[in-house]
Amino acid sequence: MPIPVIIDCDPGTDDALALFLALGSPELDVRMVTVAGGNVGLAQTLPNARAIVGVTGKKVPVIAGADRPLLGAFRSETAVHGTDGLGGVRLPEGPPAAPGIAADAIRAALREAPPEGLTLIGLGPATNLALALATEPALVEKVARIVLMTGAWGEGNFSASAEFNAMSDPEGLAVLLACGRPVTLVTLDLTAQALVTAEIIEKLRQGEGECRKVACDILAGIPMSRRFGNKAYPLHDPCAIAWLVAPELFTNRDCHVVVECGVGPGRGRTHVDRWDRLKQPANATVAETIDAARFFEVLDKALGRLE
Ligand code: RIB
Ligand code: CA
Repeated sequence: MPIPVIIDCDPGTDDALALFLALGSPELDVRMVTVAGGNVGLAQTLPNARAIVGVTGKKVPVIAGADRPLLGAFRSETAVHGTDGLGGVRLPEGPPAAPGIAADAIRAALREAPPEGLTLIGLGPATNLALALATEPALVEKVARIVLMTGAWGEGNFSASAEFNAMSDPEGLAVLLACGRPVTLVTLDLTAQALVTAEIIEKLRQGEGECRKVACDILAGIPMSRRFGNKAYPLHDPCAIAWLVAPELFTNRDCHVVVECGVGPGRGRTHVDRWDRLKQPANATVAETIDAARFFEVLDKALGRLE
């Protein structure tokens, strides 16, 4: 049976690839896409999400959410995603956003969900998911699992200490880590194993369909990372989708994880106690390794299923 999921995102170039992967994977039943400000402002992330869903032709509601974190100021990442959020790739306007606000829509979907609940996937700042759970805690029982692209056990990518999503809304992430439901973290240390190169893009281009073309044009517009010798970059958000679509590609470790919410240089740092030094109960399943070659095969197949 396909896994019923809600995807919260901030498209964002890698979010766009994640949406293609999710909507092209029969293993998932995408009930809705909710959108936050993040990589770029909500004024761009919302139309970007609508346009990506529109290109796939899938009838999935897209709903606007928070344009800023729970606390602190909104900060974008236009250096990676461009000012438009899709690296300059122009798409036809997608269907209009569904009415309402993300946190309300997530709560309504959880209320109506069957006893086995819904899986919440977070690909941006955790604000929408945190608002949904914090404002109606009783619904937590209807959350089957939360899967987040967030955090790092090593260095950050937005500050020396913190990964972008975690740093954008550490209080939101803290709400999810404390909610009592199973939480999976797909961190920078995992996504650094799923490196896109020019060769991989060319290989993904071999095939038909507008979605494949759009996906590869977006991939081609992402700047190579100096952390990988300007020859590759990590494909972050699709790794979180793949954790549900193809769990056999991953190894994982249950850990105690705390996100720093102070105002110092460590704000947004995720302290992942991989070696159980603090003897605290594990509150997250941290994905540790991915079979990258098979990951790109899964992505290629999903693009092949889309028009
Ligand atoms: O640090 C990478 C994460 O932050 C990805 O989700 C990217 O889209 C940005 O949101
Ligand atoms: Ca994202």
